[in-house]
Amino acid sequence: MSARSIPVRPRRNRKNPAVRGLVRETQLSPADLIYPLFIEEGDTDTPIESMPGCTRWSLNGLIKEVGEAVASGVSSVVLFPAIVDSLKTPLAEECYNPDGLVPRAIAAIKKEFPQVVVITDVALDPYNSEGHDGVVEKDEHGELHIVNDQTIDILCQQALCHARAGADIVAPSDMMDGRVAAIRQTLDDEHFDSVSILSYTAKYASAYYGPFRGALDSAPKGGDKKTYQMDPANAREALREADLDVAEGADILMVKPAGPYLDIIRTIRDNTDLPVAAYQVSGEYLMIKSAAKDGWIDEEKVAMESLIGIKRAGADMILTYFAKDVARQLKG
Ligand code: PBG
Repeated sequence: MSARSIPVRPRRNRKNPAVRGLVRETQLSPADLIYPLFIEEGDTDTPIESMPGCTRWSLNGLIKEVGEAVASGVSSVVLFPAIVDSLKTPLAEECYNPDGLVPRAIAAIKKEFPQVVVITDVALDPYNSEGHDGVVEKDEHGELHIVNDQTIDILCQQALCHARAGADIVAPSDMMDGRVAAIRQTLDDEHFDSVSILSYTAKYASAYYGPFRGALDSAPKGGDKKTYQMDPANAREALREADLDVAEGADILMVKPAGPYLDIIRTIRDNTDLPVAAYQVSGEYLMIKSAAKDGWIDEEKVAMESLIGIKRAGADMILTYFAKDVARQLKG
């Protein structure tokens, strides 16, 4: 007896919005989103030329913007400071000044919105006169070297300074070897055992960071970041970095950029029990923004789809400059 051949009709599961809702595999929610915010000294808010739609906020402007983000349903922010040139030095001492811009911003947010999760970037580039994430040494041939262990000592002081100011999570973005363990140890020694580490685990040497460096005037003065950020061609190496970060005590592993590295997000998701974050970086944002500006694509829809794709690849949380807008869309 031959069985009746049953027509296979996957479209039945797409027949109306309610059915599509039932079978939907990936849900994006405002609770998944982390909103990166730029800050600067002074009383004025400066629109960022290289990143239309983004602003370098004064502390007052920052509080207003965090308020709007909270109203849209976003409850986590990550801070990026623009530091005045006069405070940039070879050893980036300003990065652990307790009265510096970042500690004041953390305190201001925590005072107004104690429930908001404040994340800080731990790296030297905004503070370093060379624009590198670590301390720069020049050899007799004029070659630049980023000095790993000396940098780590400074990163530990920076992380501690942020913890003292009230940061909930510190996020080392520098890619020095061994910095997660050192930061964990420093925080624990100072009784900040509840401050989490969101490690930039697989951070690639990416041209997609261009607009961000414009926003902060933080581009390297010489050389590039290829001796510490990862080669875009490598995937296995991301697993090696992930293993190290797990062993060193990271709480969350991050992949950056996000959209062009969905395979890396998936690989790390499949190989760790830790939460995975992904950073939709400035260049990814700008490509959508600029195409939408001339009406080539629909900004809202493409932004949403880009984030669903990142979540589907395995990210539990996403850093995105669209956070506030997308959260509003999700609220309907
Ligand atoms: C620096 C840092 C960078 C970004 C976040 N932290 C730039 C870089 O590594 O050069 C980029 C974010 C973006 O492009 O949106 N430590």
